[in-house]
Amino acid sequence: MDKHGIAIVGAGMIGAAHAFSYRNQLPRFAGQLAGLSLDTVADPNAELAHSLAATYGFQRTAADWKAVMADPNIGIVSVALPNFLHVEAVESALKAGKHVLCEKPLALGAADARRLYESGKASNVCAATVFNYRRIPAVAEIRNLIAAGELGEIVNVLVQFQCEYAADPKLPHSWRYERDRAGPGSLLDIGTHAIDTARFLCGEVDEVAGAVSTISIKERYVAAGSTVGHNRVELSDEKRTVDNDDVMSALLQFRSGAQGMFSSSRVAIGMGNTLSFEVFGTKATARFSTKSLNQYEIARFDGSGQSCFTVVPNRPASPYLGRLLPVPYDGVGVGYAEIFNFMMAEFLTAIAEKKPIANGTLLDGLRAAEILDAIQLAADTRGRVVIEHASA
Ligand SMILES: NC(=O)c1ccc[n+]([C@@H]2O[C@H](COP(=O)([O-])OP(=O)(O)OC[C@H]3O[C@@H](n4cnc5c(N)ncnc54)[C@H](O)[C@@H]3O)[C@@H](O)[C@H]2O)c1
Repeated sequence: MDKHGIAIVGAGMIGAAHAFSYRNQLPRFAGQLAGLSLDTVADPNAELAHSLAATYGFQRTAADWKAVMADPNIGIVSVALPNFLHVEAVESALKAGKHVLCEKPLALGAADARRLYESGKASNVCAATVFNYRRIPAVAEIRNLIAAGELGEIVNVLVQFQCEYAADPKLPHSWRYERDRAGPGSLLDIGTHAIDTARFLCGEVDEVAGAVSTISIKERYVAAGSTVGHNRVELSDEKRTVDNDDVMSALLQFRSGAQGMFSSSRVAIGMGNTLSFEVFGTKATARFSTKSLNQYEIARFDGSGQSCFTVVPNRPASPYLGRLLPVPYDGVGVGYAEIFNFMMAEFLTAIAEKKPIANGTLLDGLRAAEILDAIQLAADTRGRVVIEHASA
C-alpha cells in the first residue's frame, strides 16, 4: 500500500479521539509516508460524520465502513465501531492491504480475536489493538522498573477500572448494554484495559480462580433519536433489558506465581473514569491511579517496618515525554489526549519503518480476550477456569 490516506470508521465517542490524534501527528510523519492525509470519516449518522470530518479537516465522509475498504487512496484505517463490527471490518481492511488500528476489545470473544490475529500474521501490513493506557508515562515507567527487577519478585497485583458512566439509570440503552453486540459489559468495555495493564506490567495470566458478575440496572430506556458514547439524550417509552455485567470481579493466577485481584465497574459513583493498580513485590510496592495521571508512587522495603511511599512525578526523562511532548519540562502535565497521541505516534512510526508494532499488537488483543473469556466463564459457572492460550 503506497498511499496513506487515513479513514476513521465509526465517528462516535472514541472515533473523535482517533481523528484528533491523527491530525496532531500528521506533520511529524508527512515527510515519511507518501500521501499521508486525513481522508474519510465513515458513519451512517451523516451529521456526526460531517461534524467530525469538518472539525479535524478530513476531506470526505462515507455512510458505511465498507466504502473505505475498496478505496485505493486509503492506506490506514482506524476501526472505532461498536464491538460486534470489529472482526468483519478488520478482516476486510487486512484483505485490502490497509494498515489497521482496531479499538479494544478486538472481538466479542477469544475465538474471533484469534481469527484476527491469524489474519494479521498472514498480512504484511501493520495491525494493532488500541491499548492507550499502556502509553501513560507513569505506567510505562513502572513496567520498566518491574522488568529491571526493582520490585523484586511480584507477589500480588490489584488492578481495577472503576467508572461512573452507566450509574445513571436514565442513560439510554445502546449496543453497550447487549451481550450480542458488546459482549460482556464492564468486563469488555473497561475491564479490557485493566487486564491489558496487568499483563503489560506482570506478564501472562494462566488461571481465573473465580469470578462474580452483577447487573445493577436491569433495564434502560431506548433513546428517542440516536445516541453515541455515554451521552444523555431524550428517551423514548420503550425499555430494553440489560444483559451484560455492570460490575465484574475476579481472582487471577499469573504465570509468574503472582496472584491478582481484578475488578471493573461502570456504575461506580464518584469514580469518573479511573484505572488504578497496586503491584506488590518482594523488594518494593508501586501504585498508580489515573486520578493522579502525572505521577506514581513507590515504597522500597527499608527494614523499618514502616517503609514509606515516595511520589515520582513525570519529568522529561519519563517514557514518551522528552521525545513527544511539545513542552517537555518538569511540572508540565499530560492528559488523555496526549496519551492517545503517544499511541498514534507509535502506530505511525511502525508503518513508516515498515516494522510490526511492538506495543499493543493483535496478539496482545488476543491474550486479553482469552483472559476476559475465562473471567466470564468463571462467573457464569461459579468455577475455576484454566486458560488454554492459543499458540502464537
Ligand atoms: N480506547 C478507549 O479508551 C476506548 C474508549 C471508548 C470506546 N472504545 C471502544 O471504541 C469502540 C466504539 O466505542 P464508542 O464509545 O466510540 O461507540 P459509539 O456508540 O459512541 O460510536 C460508534 C459509532 O459507530 C457508528 N457505526 C455503526 N455502524 C457503522 C457502520 N456500519 N459503519 C460506520 N460506522 C458505524 C455509529 O453510528 C456510532 O457513531 C468500541 O469498541 C469501544 O469499546 C475505546
